[in-house]
Amino acid sequence: KMAVSGSANPQEHWSGRAAFILAAVGSAVGLGNLVRFPYVAGETGGGAFVLFYLVCILFIGLPVLCAELMIGRRGGGSAVAAIARLSKSEGKSGIWTIVGWLGMISTFLILTFYSVLAGWVLHFVLLSIGDLAGAIGENGLGAISSPAFEAMSKDDISSQLGELLTQPVRMIIMHGIFIIVTIAIVMRGIKGGIEVAAKVLMPIFFILLLALTVSSLINGDAGAGFAFLFQPDFEKFGAALSDGSILLDAIGQAFFSLSLGSAMMITYGLYLSREDQIPGAARAVAFADTSVALIAGLAIFPIVFAAGLNEAAGFSLLFNSLPLAFHQLPFGGIFAIAFFIMTLFAALTSSIALLEVTVAIADGDVDVDPAKRDRRRVQGAIVIGLIAFGIGVANALSQVSGVETFFNTWHPLDFIPLFEGLVLLDLIDQLTANILLPLGGFLTAIFAGWVVSGSAAREELNFNSERTFKIWRFLCRWVCPLFVGLVLVYAAIIAPM
Ligand code: PFF
Repeated sequence: KMAVSGSANPQEHWSGRAAFILAAVGSAVGLGNLVRFPYVAGETGGGAFVLFYLVCILFIGLPVLCAELMIGRRGGGSAVAAIARLSKSEGKSGIWTIVGWLGMISTFLILTFYSVLAGWVLHFVLLSIGDLAGAIGENGLGAISSPAFEAMSKDDISSQLGELLTQPVRMIIMHGIFIIVTIAIVMRGIKGGIEVAAKVLMPIFFILLLALTVSSLINGDAGAGFAFLFQPDFEKFGAALSDGSILLDAIGQAFFSLSLGSAMMITYGLYLSREDQIPGAARAVAFADTSVALIAGLAIFPIVFAAGLNEAAGFSLLFNSLPLAFHQLPFGGIFAIAFFIMTLFAALTSSIALLEVTVAIADGDVDVDPAKRDRRRVQGAIVIGLIAFGIGVANALSQVSGVETFFNTWHPLDFIPLFEGLVLLDLIDQLTANILLPLGGFLTAIFAGWVVSGSAAREELNFNSERTFKIWRFLCRWVCPLFVGLVLVYAAIIAPM
């Protein structure tokens, strides 16, 4: 069995199934799970959102994930090239490459604010290292066993992010360092860069996350945390039906968290070898990603409630709440360092994926000779990374408090009801997660369900029963496009008017 072009595809592959899964999970698990999920859940009131979210993962995320991996592997080449080739082999027009271009725009835009938030994480890594080092300097090595931030009051601790937001220069430096590390890894390519990063970083991440969640459940208000996340509020259900916003938030978060609708999984699917089973890989990625989001919720909300913090505090939730937990924990200093490093690692394996989508497109197509291609990858990573850094500076300045920076008072899309009052960073976040990614997913599902022939899809996906294949195809043809399309039109256009 030969793919359309897979046989002639000289690109580097993952070294195996485990490597692919780690890299794909690495891309999926990130600030979306640790920072964005708690934030969206907090703002929309918890249980009802979480329920919709799980439904979206199962009936929309999973089928679209299979579709993206299928398109990537079968098409071969960057997201744009893969779609072009697949359309051609089905005798369809090249118009569908728009899915690849749209994905490129989305991932690039996400990178411009993702790296700013990751810069905040880096700041907290340094902050907690500095705190522990200070404590050891004062009280000797025994200080290791004491809680974090001992010298600070609770109010001081939960205003650390607020502090950072008054220091634009520091924020930009942290953002810059993070982008440079991302560029350095993507430059090295699939096996030498992306894969090594995922193999080292992801296992450490999982161990730390579990340790932390256990300690949060013990030290925080576990009951309130569970109730918030898992007890659907039926009033919210009603409200959601009238303005559709929870539905759109849930869809947007599902796409963002699984890195879907952005051609990213098409890009990684390219490097998947023919022996790997796509449905199994997709299931593993979706399961890991969803578990991490829920577990992160259980690591954060018990502390938020125990400390009386505001659960709808936006992106700052993680940064304000967890340091308080470490403040009450023996060996808290060590935990704080470990946690923020883990978050940084998770962010890094995602930002790599974000940059890779555009670099793969800029990289040229399969017939360029390998030496040239390596050079183009290096140049592409640097140039694209630096442009993202530049736009990211504006994003960072839009978050500054206390000083006027132009960007923190600039509301570029204020005339659109959906985006009213949002500064640049929040605007790009909403625009990508709630509009562009669902739109990309909508088009991807239609492409996979209607444009790609049943026989090609069946062969590529190789489900273990014809029935599962039929269900997948039905979801791609009807359920995803109709559900996502209706929610988009209703929540984004009709309801805000
Ligand atoms: N899935 C990542 C997260 O949850 O943090 C974010 C992301 C990475 C979105 C890569 C899109 C993407 F292509």
